[in-house]
Amino acid sequence: MKAAAKAHTNIALIKYWGKRDEQLFLPTNSSISLTLDKFYTETSVAFDPELDTDQFFLNGQQADQKETAKITSFLDRIRIMSGKSLYAKIDSENHVPTAAGFASSASGFAALATAATKAIGLDLDDRKLSQIARQGSGSASRSIFGGYVEWQKGEKNDGSDCYALPILGEQAWDLRILSVEVTTKEKKILSREGMKRTVETSPFYSGWLEAVEKDLITARAAIKATDFEKLGHVVEANALKMHATTLGANPPFMYWQSATVEVLQEVQELRASGVEAYFTIDAGPNVKVLCKPEDEAKIMEKLSLLPVVREIHPCRPGPGISYLS
Ligand code: DP6
Repeated sequence: MKAAAKAHTNIALIKYWGKRDEQLFLPTNSSISLTLDKFYTETSVAFDPELDTDQFFLNGQQADQKETAKITSFLDRIRIMSGKSLYAKIDSENHVPTAAGFASSASGFAALATAATKAIGLDLDDRKLSQIARQGSGSASRSIFGGYVEWQKGEKNDGSDCYALPILGEQAWDLRILSVEVTTKEKKILSREGMKRTVETSPFYSGWLEAVEKDLITARAAIKATDFEKLGHVVEANALKMHATTLGANPPFMYWQSATVEVLQEVQELRASGVEAYFTIDAGPNVKVLCKPEDEAKIMEKLSLLPVVREIHPCRPGPGISYLS
């Protein structure tokens, strides 16, 4: 009863920011992402009647109790679905530079959902896998698919209409995401904690919910038409709106550091000089720059000159999940 799978991480173009149900990971708004080629997680799961607890190894090291407990509660859902109560040994290799601000939880839970359901004998389609991965980390629902993906928020309380769907395959439109790692000094506020505080306390949150519906329409249309300028504008504006909600929270918080702002301004200057580049930012200080393949080298060169830039990881659209032998 063993299986292994690989899943890639994704970057949100239109952000998921807030839950309507924390147990089932149901979001308040739909979101759109691009799966990336470079960063991924490979996970093998072996259910074993000899085990009396789950054993989780991350990059070859046995994880602590807290980390293992998260995996156990996720696997419990799969055990209930399958009607089997076996424990498992889980081996996960993360090829995601967490310092670069990529959440390894997206690729991590997508790979785990895929490997664990197969290992326990469930034969599920991608939509169902997306619903299961979602319950480990919301953004993991999108990593089941390659390329440009939409995670539909759904309306139902049981989450049965809440899953991701592909919009456009990874081969269909070649864009670049430059992940710009900046020097950091502050403590992290996890996205889970940040979005909860914002939903509960920020007076700007209702404005976010109103605006994101319009941004989704624009982004979907831009992707289908492969209209880079239109997509870039809405991606950048949507990220700024998400971050604006955090300033209204109680207590207020901000993911940006001075280095973040320097990169944002450089991107805007590049654009003013005629180079098409747009930024987005997740729940951290690092910046992701969206550009066309022909502008990648130029933009990398320019951004590398900023003293606050530590490293730039260029990424391309990447594939959805795959099973490993
Ligand atoms: C800002 O998926 O990490 O990156 O569902 O609580 O695990 P949980 O949150 P997570 O949140 C991602 C937030 C974001 C935007 C996005 O990826 O859409």
